[in-house]
Amino acid sequence: MLYVTKKVDFSAAHRLYNPNYSDEMNESIYDKCNNYNGHGHNYTLEVTVCGEPDPNTGYVIDLKKLKDLLINEIVSKVDHKHLNLDVDFLKGIIPTVENLSMIFWKILENKLPNGKLYKIRLYETDSSFVDYYGQESEIKIFE
Ligand code: NI
Repeated sequence: MLYVTKKVDFSAAHRLYNPNYSDEMNESIYDKCNNYNGHGHNYTLEVTVCGEPDPNTGYVIDLKKLKDLLINEIVSKVDHKHLNLDVDFLKGIIPTVENLSMIFWKILENKLPNGKLYKIRLYETDSSFVDYYGQESEIKIFE
């Protein structure tokens, strides 16, 4: 089994807050990330697929095709956007890297051959990132 990864970048704004909490509570939980008008991050998304190389091509997956998929399905929809306001598939979701990773997984797993998606790693800063392997986890959606 081999693991092949494609990395793409995007920049986006977000604001972290829970609409069910008071302003004070949001401030104490999210601190600077609760800034009313949002703030930006330079994200890096790494998507790993697994499998055996095709004997004829030598590819587990064509990385150009994987890159096109990531650009078309994710980057083009979130790059230079406000994640709380501009992105249909993030409506009502607190845009933490945790939640973004789970949403991106749901989008990509339907577009890749069954069982190929192995890992999503999403960096919000150089030193902060999430690894997600697709285990069932709940995403709360706020009305
Ligand atoms: Ni932030």
